[in-house]
Amino acid sequence: MSHSREEHLWIPESDLDGMSVDTLSVRAGQIRTGQLEHSDAIFPTSSFVYGSAAQAAARFGGEEAGNIYSRFTNPTVQAFEGRIAAMEGGEKAVATASGMAAILSTCMSLLKTGDHVVCSRGVFGTTNVLFQKYMARFGVETTFVSLTEVDEWQAAIRPETRMLFIETPSNPLCEVADVKALAALAHGNDALLVVDNCFCTPILQRPLELGADLVIHSATKYLDGQGRCVGGVVVGPAKYLDEVYGFIRSAGPTMSPFNAWVFQKGLETLPIRMRAHCDNALELAKWLESQPSVEKVFYAGLESHPQHELAKQQQSGFGGMVSFMVKGGREQAWRFIDGTRMISITANLGDVKTTITHPATTTHGRLAPEDKAKAGITENLIRLSVGIEAIDDLKTDLARGFQALED
Ligand SMILES: Cc1ncc(COP(=O)(O)O)c(C=O)c1O
Repeated sequence: MSHSREEHLWIPESDLDGMSVDTLSVRAGQIRTGQLEHSDAIFPTSSFVYGSAAQAAARFGGEEAGNIYSRFTNPTVQAFEGRIAAMEGGEKAVATASGMAAILSTCMSLLKTGDHVVCSRGVFGTTNVLFQKYMARFGVETTFVSLTEVDEWQAAIRPETRMLFIETPSNPLCEVADVKALAALAHGNDALLVVDNCFCTPILQRPLELGADLVIHSATKYLDGQGRCVGGVVVGPAKYLDEVYGFIRSAGPTMSPFNAWVFQKGLETLPIRMRAHCDNALELAKWLESQPSVEKVFYAGLESHPQHELAKQQQSGFGGMVSFMVKGGREQAWRFIDGTRMISITANLGDVKTTITHPATTTHGRLAPEDKAKAGITENLIRLSVGIEAIDDLKTDLARGFQALED
């Protein structure tokens, strides 16, 4: 008996329902051309051709579906969008040129002058700058509150609050928000809950299932996983994503086809990479906690972490980000970092290679001193994005950092 497949789709969309995220990461969203390629094709083209002037007019007029121009749609980008939407359990996704473009496009398309945002203090430094400096210029005010204190969120809500924005676990202190509680608060106040799911990815946490309205990623991080490309994506229901799409089509922060192809391939190994990141990070967090030169370790997988139980409930793993304070200040933190030899000193995270960062002078360096203090970004804080190298080799390299503190 012959088996028919939906034209151009490797897996018919109707078959995706109920598939595990591990399967979706390799199977969802692929578009197959007439060449019947097994791997995803890449479409590096700025525009698309028509069979006639009448067809061009029909495409532009919206009477006929199809590609027009790659700022609007591109098959490679759509393939990536289809896959990540399926993995996050969202109706639609819109890919963007960077993670910041995803956050900006969400704000520009869903907020207006006079609206108010409540945002957690511990967000990525540039997210904080975007809200404080740029959104404020367009009359959108933001109040920053503690990620973990639901009472503070409640108190910050105003009649004009339209968005609650969180990163959970947070960067770099790995605090964990109660997503269900914040979703209920948002919905009780006619506001949207937007979750930056960069640290967990859909492999470890699916915010839409916990009640969030929109999920944002810096695809630059774990979705790629090999530090090759900058990109972002927004996922959620069509009623919001159509607005985000309208903005990127008009304003232009679209993802390039090449980057989409790299991210599409990155997603295929995301489940096994995330498990390897989690295993190494938990082992290192425990090991760091036992080191005499360490003041404190921040990792939700540790029983000492204040939101350990919450993380266990809403995440299926604790992720690959571990932060810790060395005893002392900036000098000791820098000495530790410079003492390592294999681990890369770089601000990117989510790579298969372990990276080490001094947040106070890099990722969060643009924050005002009082904002840094409130966000807990101290001078002795070091952030590790734990990669997938052999754990013993990671310990050997970090031990060089500890040795440098003794020298
Ligand atoms: C949690 C988080 N969200 C968003 C971003 C911004 O992403 P991008 O650098 O792709 O613009 C970053 C970047 O480091 C991040 O760590």
